[in-house]
Amino acid sequence: KAGQVGSARGEEVYLVGGAVRDLLLRNHNLDIDLVIEGQGIPFARELAAQFPGCRIRGHEKFGTAVILFEDNFKIDVATARHEYYARPGALPTVETSSIKRDLFRRDFTMNTLAISLNTRTIGHLIDFFGGSRDIKERIIRVLHNLAFVEDPTRILRAVRFSSRFGFAIGKHTLNLMKAAIRMKLFDKVEGKRLLNELIHMLEEKNPLSPLTLMDGYGIPQALHPALNFTPKTMELVESTIGVLSWWKYLFMKDQIDSWSVYFLALTDNLSDGDFKSVVERFSIVGDLGRHMASERILVRQALALFARGIIEKPSEIYSVLRNLSLETLLFMMAKTMREETRMAISEYIINYRYVKPLLTGKDLIRMGYEPGPIFAPILRTLKQASLDREVLTRSEAEDLVRR
Ligand code: CTP
Repeated sequence: KAGQVGSARGEEVYLVGGAVRDLLLRNHNLDIDLVIEGQGIPFARELAAQFPGCRIRGHEKFGTAVILFEDNFKIDVATARHEYYARPGALPTVETSSIKRDLFRRDFTMNTLAISLNTRTIGHLIDFFGGSRDIKERIIRVLHNLAFVEDPTRILRAVRFSSRFGFAIGKHTLNLMKAAIRMKLFDKVEGKRLLNELIHMLEEKNPLSPLTLMDGYGIPQALHPALNFTPKTMELVESTIGVLSWWKYLFMKDQIDSWSVYFLALTDNLSDGDFKSVVERFSIVGDLGRHMASERILVRQALALFARGIIEKPSEIYSVLRNLSLETLLFMMAKTMREETRMAISEYIINYRYVKPLLTGKDLIRMGYEPGPIFAPILRTLKQASLDREVLTRSEAEDLVRR
């Protein structure tokens, strides 16, 4: 459809980037990125009109648009503008085709492939920079010497792709990358962008592999001097992977940010002060940053209580864990060395957090009690009794209230 719309409009349409790379690698990829030699936004509007029910969001300033389908599928559309390089006094001349220039701005040769979608040329592979050869040779190469200077987050992308695809980083590319790390180019990057890349890395299938590579290049320290991935950190990451796959197979409906569980693992060896500074460096500011910092302290306190063996009853487990987020609870499961603690937390996640008192405020009113501050402790006691299975029926609960 995209090719037909483009052809009818007299515009060239290309499928570009990760989708083409993954096609050559026979990997699954649902990201569709299109580049239009022409007018991206009007093109996207026309394409979207072919699919009832989809929405479109355009950014006039960048000439980009996203077509959002009902089932979360999306198509990103970008415009490759015809730019004219004119010397003063000279007639404007088109320097290169605009798709070539668009592809030249990209990070690695393997991401510079395009496939034509227009009716007459459909399926033609466009490879200006040797991308398909590098994919065949399983090698990551930059297009030019300034790739990492232009955007140091590409260092993290190189590591991520290298571990995801098992590709080597080319010799020259590796030298440029190491030089960029030594030159502290990360210092120039906004925290938000670094966090975004780190999240991508932590959301890979097996984050241990890119994290190990990252450590080998001294990247953690280059991101923040306090970051230090020790063998213990890596063990903690490994047990986090285990806990997160346990979580996944519970098929619970809660959405969690798995990256933040890993983030807690990677920063577990930091002092509270250093943690705060790392969180600031990654621009995890506002509520989330404060929340992470305070939960980290609560984790230590809760684990100490468990270690003393004084928390046994379900109601006690509930009261120690009730204020912690799911991410923090999963991190605690990864961190603890005690099987009993891990079991207690898992019981809390699966059962205890859903337990309700057998009676509600309305029931108490029905029983003749005046609504007031006394209700909260009564309901709390009822909930504890349910958790500890001391009352199992509503009439037992009513007896308890009367007592
Ligand atoms: N890109 C870049 N420099 C960056 C980020 C992205 O040059 N710092 C380019 C890449 O060439 C990439 C394209 O922008 O092909 C789109 O980026 P993105 O969707 O993040 O990359 P993918 O290659 O699709 O990666 P992934 O499979 O992880 O989504």
